Amino acid sequence: MLTTAEAIRTIQVIPSGKALGADIRGIDLAQPLSEAQITTIREAWQQHLVLRFPNQNHITMAHQSAFSSYFGALDKRPTASYAMSKEHDELPSEITVISNVQIGGKPMGALGDGEAVWHADMTYNEIPPKGACLLAKEVPPTGGNTHFANMFAAYETLPTDLKKRIQGLSCVHDASRNSAGELRLGFVDNTDPRQTVGAVHPLVVAHAQTGLPCLMLGRRRNAYIKGLSLEESEALLDQLWAHATQERFTWTQVWTVGDMVMWDNSCTLHKRDSFDPSTRRLMLRTQIASR
Ligand code: OGA
Ligand code: MN
Repeated sequence: MLTTAEAIRTIQVIPSGKALGADIRGIDLAQPLSEAQITTIREAWQQHLVLRFPNQNHITMAHQSAFSSYFGALDKRPTASYAMSKEHDELPSEITVISNVQIGGKPMGALGDGEAVWHADMTYNEIPPKGACLLAKEVPPTGGNTHFANMFAAYETLPTDLKKRIQGLSCVHDASRNSAGELRLGFVDNTDPRQTVGAVHPLVVAHAQTGLPCLMLGRRRNAYIKGLSLEESEALLDQLWAHATQERFTWTQVWTVGDMVMWDNSCTLHKRDSFDPSTRRLMLRTQIASR
């Protein structure tokens, strides 16, 4: 049995050297964590926004849920993905499968094999989730990488006039389609951003834990800045998105089986590359609520 001091010493936080992201080594997510370990991880998460825990392929879904719960209440999986495969009935309700693998011609999970465009999760809700943990169980030999972007850095580096221009402006976040472009159950197809259905959030928000300002863009499709003409809104959003998704604000996760990646959804964007449909990718996800 390690003492607390020894346990902290064994955790290593290794920054990616990019705009966000760090590896956490020297920790086994199948074991209960001490308060000191949780604090170390929480601080590293706040500083690096996305954490990768390598070599966790041995953990069970219950371990993943237990680990995720240290950082907040867990959301239930969305009903849309639940409907996809009846194999889901056997999954704990807080586990979402992200996969292109099919069973009996039906996808086991969400997002397929195509590109998932830049987005933050579920910002079309009034209170979007705080974050998520994604564990790689099977990965394709190439493709399917996940890119993350730092929205503190994106805000900080905006030209002063643009910062002033967006202060006080709010944007509607489209709920109708997921990041893979699929129309969600119960939504009508809409191509006029002025008709978009979804929550409205300020373009600049203060981070719940640190109070630091970050850009909140959500997703580009059907976004609309309230109070502007459609043309002005489109032009301003194009400018903000081009700025925020520059490579210098990003870090790319090239998956190895057993990697668990945890992101702060309130101050980052992510996107996933497509991959060869004849290969398998299987990920398990927990989502941490902002409560
Ligand atoms: C998600 C997501 C990307 C990936 O689970 O919210 O966007 O790499 N996943 O599977
Ligand atoms: Mn996502």
